[in-house]
Amino acid sequence: MSDSSSHNNHNNDHHKTPHELFDEFLNKAKELKNRAEALDLKSKYLGKNGPFSTILKSLKDVAIEVKKEIGQQCNTYKDQMELLIKEKLEELEMYEMNRALEEKWIDITLRNSNREMGLNSAGLHPVSIVQREIEDIFISMGFEVLDGPYIEDDHHNFTALNVPADHPARDMQDTFWFPDKKHLLRTHTSTIQVHGMEMHKPPFKFVGPGKVFRCERTDASHEMVFHQLEGMMVDKGISVSHLIYFMKTLLSEIFRRDVDVRLRPGFFPFVEPGFELDIKCLICQGKGCSVCKKLGWVELLPCGMVHPNVLRAGKIDPSEYQGFAFGLGLDRLVMMRYVIDDIRLIHAGDLRFISQFKAY
Ligand code: DAH
Repeated sequence: MSDSSSHNNHNNDHHKTPHELFDEFLNKAKELKNRAEALDLKSKYLGKNGPFSTILKSLKDVAIEVKKEIGQQCNTYKDQMELLIKEKLEELEMYEMNRALEEKWIDITLRNSNREMGLNSAGLHPVSIVQREIEDIFISMGFEVLDGPYIEDDHHNFTALNVPADHPARDMQDTFWFPDKKHLLRTHTSTIQVHGMEMHKPPFKFVGPGKVFRCERTDASHEMVFHQLEGMMVDKGISVSHLIYFMKTLLSEIFRRDVDVRLRPGFFPFVEPGFELDIKCLICQGKGCSVCKKLGWVELLPCGMVHPNVLRAGKIDPSEYQGFAFGLGLDRLVMMRYVIDDIRLIHAGDLRFISQFKAY
């Protein structure tokens, strides 16, 4: 008995009228909690083996009018159910999405208490450490510290510095030009000389540190972004001996020991005469390594007496005033000081590297 009743129950569906099935569906639809349940309900009632299909199949042998009526009824209900499920799915999708948004909400304005601050835990970047030290040395000698923009025009980067139009320094391979062909990323901090002369009447002396940019192939001693510190002093009666005095003072302060230096003549359009000041490589003590390109000496300080054309472009009368200028490569200096053998580490932004440095 119990067997047959359970058997009966199982097949109850085709005793139910389309209307009863629809009611049942509506009740179940109210309980739906997620999209999976909705899809499940849809396949149960509207699928190939669902109760409506069973009813339609069972109509095979009934009169055509009955078939038509019940068939239409079934289809109307099915259409409604289809629509209802579609709406329900959309509604549930919105609900699920909103809930996910609420659960995964991140307050981007919240401060991270573990944030590594340059001054506190990670330490300053070695370039900043050395740059600040050198600024302090020059400030103590009465120099001003000036800043200049990264984006420059031809005038500030080349023309006012006596770099003629056909000079190889303007080569497209070295300079990052903007598409307008008028602006560029400064290739050296000598641009700050030009800004300094615009801002000041002589006598003056200032340094100008900062990033410079060159379209160069990178290797252990070349980067596309590197750092220079420009210096310029203009006054009456300035000579090479002033230049040598200030450079010697600078280097002995920076290295806090005696370093071997040599002066070679060097050509730069903005100075005359121009010099290359080299120091003996502190990494290999002159034996030759990748930093000094096996030369034992590192080009550290190009410098010279300011070219009269540069003074004139800066509205300074060269018969009245003279000056010296220099362009210190900060990265090389940092590499010497901290014994770093690859310049690419400096701009890589790797905290494991940066956090090793502490100011003296
Ligand atoms: N601006 C030059 C460069 O980037 C470096 C330089 C050389 C600067 C001689 C100077 C100088 O002030 O006198 O290659």
